[in-house]
Amino acid sequence: MIKKPVIIAVCGKGGVGKTSISALLTRMFSENTSNRVIAIDADPAEGLSYPLGITVKKTVDDVRNDLIRSIEKGEKTGKEALLKRLDYELFEAIEEKENLAFLAIGRPESDGCYCQVNNLLKEIIKEIVFNFDYVIIDGEAGVEQINRRVMEMVTHLLLVTDASAKGRNVAATIEMVARKNVSFESVGLLLNKIKDKEEAEELLPLIDIPILGWIAENETVREFDRYGKSFFDLPEDSIISTLRSALENLLPSSKT
Ligand SMILES: Nc1ncnc2c1ncn2[C@@H]1O[C@H](COP(=O)(O)OP(=O)(O)OP(=O)(O)O)[C@@H](O)[C@H]1O
Ligand SMILES: [Mg+2]
Repeated sequence: MIKKPVIIAVCGKGGVGKTSISALLTRMFSENTSNRVIAIDADPAEGLSYPLGITVKKTVDDVRNDLIRSIEKGEKTGKEALLKRLDYELFEAIEEKENLAFLAIGRPESDGCYCQVNNLLKEIIKEIVFNFDYVIIDGEAGVEQINRRVMEMVTHLLLVTDASAKGRNVAATIEMVARKNVSFESVGLLLNKIKDKEEAEELLPLIDIPILGWIAENETVREFDRYGKSFFDLPEDSIISTLRSALENLLPSSKT
């Protein structure tokens, strides 16, 4: 029997720490070398490659645009050949480093909506997901992807907020939209960039979503981000141990 992968989408307001947390989760899952892990940067603004210490050569959107260009140039290919080419090029867009793979969705060249990219994302997730044990998706800010149901394969939704009312509100909206549109195994909220225990305790009664834990404002994370350093080199400290217990709350049945 094929084991169903754990697919975690990390979502929340802009700037709350989605990319940092996605990178740390990726690191934690891939520390066990028997886990096959893929991190997917689904934010058109891109950024997950930095904390993962990976260089992106090609995004899913590059693949799409190359294809559109050659079709516009009048290159004629049958459906089968087209699919074969797409398959091959998508495979090329996946960066691999030992048991860790990385895929960036990128952004469309033209203005307008991300529907095509998102549809493509959906197809790709469907195809590749079963080759991995853990899939971590760094989502774009806001509720767009949830709205467009591209997240239908996601098994666990990890919402992130900072202490702000706006951040909590975005998390609550995403949770509501997600519960209406998608069936997850679990949903939880991680508080990030919190000043101290007092602040965390003050926030708890204001939140209806199951809380996975809280992470304090951390100078090392900020510094690593400032210099684009790999989060694989971040010292094992309170952030990592908080995240480990947050994961135990989100995925009670699976082992990292
Ligand atoms: N626990 C933390 N302590 C201190 N700084 C943090 C912490 N978590 C994240 N940051 C900092 O907050 C900023 C935003 O973090 P990050 O890029 O991870 O957020 P994001 O939600 O992915 O943002 P965006 O919506 O722009 O993609 C970065 O400068 C990062 O270093
Ligand atoms: Mg980000």
